[in-house]
Amino acid sequence: MSTENTRLVVRDAAETSDAERTACDALWTRTWPPNPDEPHEDDPEFVETMVAYTMLLGDDGSLLGACVLGDREITVNGEPHRIAALGGVAVEESHRQRGYGSRIVRAWMEDAQARGYGFGVLWTGERRVGFYERLGWVLLEGDLSYQWLGEDRRIDGPILATAFAPDVEQLLSSWSTARIHLGVGGW
Ligand SMILES: CC(C)(COP(=O)(O)OP(=O)(O)OC[C@H]1O[C@@H](n2cnc3c(N)ncnc32)[C@H](O)[C@@H]1OP(=O)(O)O)[C@@H](O)C(=O)NCCC(=O)NCCS
Repeated sequence: MSTENTRLVVRDAAETSDAERTACDALWTRTWPPNPDEPHEDDPEFVETMVAYTMLLGDDGSLLGACVLGDREITVNGEPHRIAALGGVAVEESHRQRGYGSRIVRAWMEDAQARGYGFGVLWTGERRVGFYERLGWVLLEGDLSYQWLGEDRRIDGPILATAFAPDVEQLLSSWSTARIHLGVGGW
């Protein structure tokens, strides 16, 4: 673990300052240069509601990493479930491999649980699966789709989920092979 003094801040979206949003947007743009073909939260079809920002700050107050919690309804074998969508997990390139990414995701998980969500869901790239599995997420391997531009599309990247309470953990094991529709828009 780095010896740099760091501070985790979890902020309701409505209370996130313009400066914090600008710093997060700049980090995300450096991490994922914009792709005009991908769903974006400004697109009218996108229905996820932004709930909170989790930010890791350095000792000078600069943003080292961040992620967001979005509120979404998904269906699992046709049954609706409200879930916490984990998105925008990013750490400044020069600060990676120090445990910061794991700290940010753990803080996000605590926050999602405190907000009363039963499940967290994320969509990532193949090479990040191990990172999330080590944090307690499980790979969903059933029939996975989402809707975009009025059409249902199969999902080509890994989707992982986690349960925040023992009574839903059992349900999660049935999700691993279920038919899951993630709603409108990617993330
Ligand atoms: C994914 C990402 C957020 C991880 O951030 P990070 O700060 O490097 O994360 P951590 O340091 O907690 O963990 C990364 C690895 O470093 C290892 N690590 C943690 N502390 C370490 C240390 N002190 N020394 C060496 N390695 C360490 C971890 O074991 C982990 O290994 P793993 O990837 O095999 O699980 C970061 O690589 C990133 O921003 N990537 C680009 C965006 C992206 O892909 N985001 C995820 C999409 S959902």
